[in-house]
Amino acid sequence: PAAPHAPAVVIGSGYGAAVAALRLGLAGVPTLVLEMGRLWDTAGPDGKVFCPTITPDRRSMWFRTRTEAPLSTFLWLDVVNRRIDPYPGVLDRVNYGDMSVYVGRGVGGGSLVNGGMAVTPPRPYFSEVLPGVDAEAMYGTYFPRARRMLGVNEVDRSWFESTPWYRFSRVSRTHAARAGLGTVFVPNVYDFDYMRREAAGEVPRSALAGEVIYGNNHGKRSLDRTYLAAALATGRVTVETMSRVRALRPANTGGTGGAGGYVLTVERLDLSGRVTAVDEITTGRLFLGAGSLGTTELLLRARETGALPDLDPEVGRGWGHNGNVMTARANHLWDTVGAQQSTMPVLGIDDWNNPTHPVFAEIAPLPMGLEHWISLYLAITKNPERGHFTYDAATDSARLRWTRDQNEPSVAAARSLFDRINRANGTIHRYDLFGGNRKFADDFTYHPLGGCVLGRATDGYGRAKGHPGLYVVDGSLVPGSIGVNPFVTITALAERNMERIVQEDILG
Ligand code: FDA
Repeated sequence: PAAPHAPAVVIGSGYGAAVAALRLGLAGVPTLVLEMGRLWDTAGPDGKVFCPTITPDRRSMWFRTRTEAPLSTFLWLDVVNRRIDPYPGVLDRVNYGDMSVYVGRGVGGGSLVNGGMAVTPPRPYFSEVLPGVDAEAMYGTYFPRARRMLGVNEVDRSWFESTPWYRFSRVSRTHAARAGLGTVFVPNVYDFDYMRREAAGEVPRSALAGEVIYGNNHGKRSLDRTYLAAALATGRVTVETMSRVRALRPANTGGTGGAGGYVLTVERLDLSGRVTAVDEITTGRLFLGAGSLGTTELLLRARETGALPDLDPEVGRGWGHNGNVMTARANHLWDTVGAQQSTMPVLGIDDWNNPTHPVFAEIAPLPMGLEHWISLYLAITKNPERGHFTYDAATDSARLRWTRDQNEPSVAAARSLFDRINRANGTIHRYDLFGGNRKFADDFTYHPLGGCVLGRATDGYGRAKGHPGLYVVDGSLVPGSIGVNPFVTITALAERNMERIVQEDILG
């Protein structure tokens, strides 16, 4: 029998994918979304959809027997990670040699596990990174549209100044100021009204109960509540979960790459990770929103196995980790950060205009339910190094080529900033948190970007060059760095590109 046909298919359900699904649905195009993870809407035996952070169970991580949290130790003790049963949990850590990448799995992608920080990049840096994109239109139309659709809001300043839940942020702000450094408030998609009611004891706690990397049971406007809910409401969009796209090829082997549409090979997974069926689906328009790693791997595999041999040589190139470095400081005993900490960051140290070492450092929470005198940071640095992916035929997977020494510019920038803060406050770094007595965790990222860079692997709107009906819509378009937390940029860029694609390729 002929393979089932969908006029449009979107692979993945993170930011880029969710924008594509909504805009296709609104244009009247029947659209199938294929997501390898679960739909997170059903409570477990404890009455909660997501598991607790300090006692993670199988819901925490993607098919693991043990959790792999970013902060692995405390006082050098292996007290953080737990044994778990393999299950399609919500957070994955993809380990490639010298670099590990955290990603969300499930309907909503990264929005299910991230810190919700909704930051618009400084305009000069946006133009430096993506010179081919009209900044006027981005800052006038698409960034505001993305923020509105994502439900971005800001913490009430007077509540922030008085609540014990943000003492950790205020302490870090004071320490930065002593070094002559300014901080900025950062918007978020977590509902701050809900958070205040959590603090008042009126509603069940989520951000104030340590929840974030393994999912928030309340309060967070993740994509399943915003873009994806709107997409489903068009009546044109359907989502199939536990459906991992493995391969793509042109439907019409006689024609040129993709003119006759595409055939997808889709593995249907059960909750044990077993492939229960392998289906083929044909589509006229294929939107890749599987994230920087997922999209790049699918296209690289298609090119290197000869399914789509004419995909641009730039596919697989231009990858970066947004300069991520995590670090922590040990405060004096009189500088308590508080046993109570909200998991949603609201302040950043802004030293992006530093001429030698630009850094935007998120003041990160470390909620352990006890006073630990630690100030934690996720520094975003400007690192000119880029990695690339190669296809490994033996494992039929993409390998990231990124070496430890490529982190040097990031570590140097973070060291410069935090040495300055430590000098001004008479404090030191913590080196018991990241393993190996390291002060700087430079072996993982939350912000994978690039692999199918806009204007290089694709045209200026994400169309795969020379392949009609094949589009890239996610973080793989952003060339490795954006200077701030990336999801607002990924969303706004997808809005810009989809508007053009719907006008020209679908309605036009
Ligand atoms: P995204 O990764 O969101 O979605 C891809 C989806 O595709 C996933 O659901 C995946 O399961 C699915 N998929 C992959 N391969 C597939 C296949 N072959 N078949 C079917 N489905 C497939 N950013 C920010 O701006 N502010 C913040 O505070 C944070 N904080 C943060 C914390 C943590 C812990 C993480 C891991 C990440 C962040 N981020 C962040 C980063 C942010 O979440 C990230 O940049 C975006 O989710 C990327 O959006 P994309 O659309 O590129 O893909």
